[in-house]
Amino acid sequence: MRPTIRQLLFGLSLLTLAWGPPSSAQSPPEGLTPAERGYWYILNKAYVPADFDQDTFDNAWRVWPEALRLQAEQATPEERRRMAFHRYGLTPRPGETSDLPLQYVVTASGGWSMNCFTCHGGELNGQVLPGLPNTRLALQTITEETRQVKPLLKKQLLASDIAKLIFPMGSTVGTTNAVMFGVALENYRDADLNVVARFTPPQLTHHDMDAPPWWHFRKKKQLYADGFVEKSHRALIPFMLVRSNGPEKVRAAESDFQDIAAFLESLTPPLYPYAIDRKLAARGEVVFNAHCAQCHGTYGDNPEYNPPNVPIAEIGTDPVRWKALSRNHRQNYAQSWLANYGQQNTIVEPAGYLAPPLDGIWASAPYLHNGSVPTLWHMLHPDQRPRIWKRTGNAYNPEQVGFLVETPETPPDDLAPAELRNYFRTSQFGKSAAGHRYPEALTAEEKIALLEYLKTL
Ligand code: HEC
Ligand code: HEC
Repeated sequence: MRPTIRQLLFGLSLLTLAWGPPSSAQSPPEGLTPAERGYWYILNKAYVPADFDQDTFDNAWRVWPEALRLQAEQATPEERRRMAFHRYGLTPRPGETSDLPLQYVVTASGGWSMNCFTCHGGELNGQVLPGLPNTRLALQTITEETRQVKPLLKKQLLASDIAKLIFPMGSTVGTTNAVMFGVALENYRDADLNVVARFTPPQLTHHDMDAPPWWHFRKKKQLYADGFVEKSHRALIPFMLVRSNGPEKVRAAESDFQDIAAFLESLTPPLYPYAIDRKLAARGEVVFNAHCAQCHGTYGDNPEYNPPNVPIAEIGTDPVRWKALSRNHRQNYAQSWLANYGQQNTIVEPAGYLAPPLDGIWASAPYLHNGSVPTLWHMLHPDQRPRIWKRTGNAYNPEQVGFLVETPETPPDDLAPAELRNYFRTSQFGKSAAGHRYPEALTAEEKIALLEYLKTL
């Protein structure tokens, strides 16, 4: 079969990229808006050291399970790369013909550095959306497999490879231990962000979180599940507090982060792409305004959003995230450069979790801060939330609004750890799907109407 013009052009674009200019420029092209510059910085500027290099990534298949490894061995380099992207939850960059991942900065020397999109850029219905939580990210698996392949390639392990032997990255696909990365990094800084030798190790409660969608940023005054941090560009900087970034380097990057914050501010939620029964949704809006709006705000022409911080005993969702940050940690944050030395509103003892905005809620499954609930239907039926669930493919589920899942009683025996991470097990530490029982006050008809309304937000 002869290739189509499109296939030819695509092949050509891959070729030019393989030998084309490396993405080494450290400053964005002229004439961009601050938001466009922010996006450029996330994609192209490495703020943290590389975790592995191109060669390591391209050879990771050598440590895959046998069946997959044999398949990869037979595959062309392009197919193999697609397989690796699929296995680790990486996607192409939207609107670019390059073969670079959205989720990593690839430097001129071929180093792969994590960027914000590692966790905050994902795919929905076949469309890559920067700012959508990366629900397919297998951070633990990519970390383990790139580490395992380095000795086969006669490459030295990095200090970070060793550290990550004992520091969990995320035990379920799509969620990460990111909050504890921050705690660990901030522990070794004083208020001016100088690196200090501390003999007390940080208090770490490892647990996984589902990243929130970035299109909420514009609505928020306080950030994170418990809202303890006031929104500002400095609040985004802990990401780069690895030891090798001294205080000068962090301050020099401040204006980049102003642009990155402008990019986050510019994002709006995606619109529900399927049919909506508008009459039913209008009935659902009445239900919503009576039962949900007091916490989640109102939507439509005159939206309001002043969320309460709901005490942990009342909300009843998993308390691990709430407990995991110590008063001491929050206090140190409050007094540091990151919070402008106490000028910002840092809440050192939040009562519980903040009610998040629900704009674009149809697109950001799984639900709750720990990502324990696979669909909005399950949010509305607390007693029927699965104890164990696994996605069955990446297709969207418009009936239940969220993921398509299977809900086995137990995961199959003898699964390799990488496969087991596809199963969300609510009995694990920090992964409870309990609480938020407000929908119990509704009738079956009201829930059907409410689900329809939630699609419109
Ligand atoms: C390893 C995964 C990971 C990376 C990398 C990461 N984040 Fe996050 N991010 C998270 C998680 C998880 C949360 C939720 C934390 C919480 O609520 O306690 C979060 C929360 C946030 C929030 C708060 C959103 C809200 O609605 O409250 C912002 C803003 C944010 N991240 C921006 C960034 C930026 C900017 C970068 C890059 C400089 C970045 N993140 C890198 C995982 C990550
Ligand atoms: C008393 C305040 C309160 C009321 C009333 C309330 N919620 Fe919530 N809601 C919250 C809080 C707090 C969270 C975050 C809990 C967590 O992540 O652990 C939340 C989370 C959610 C989420 C998950 C959001 C996400 O991004 O994962 C959805 C969906 C939701 N609520 C819908 C509703 C609906 C629909 C109603 C009305 C039937 C409702 N809520 C009533 C406080 C409330």
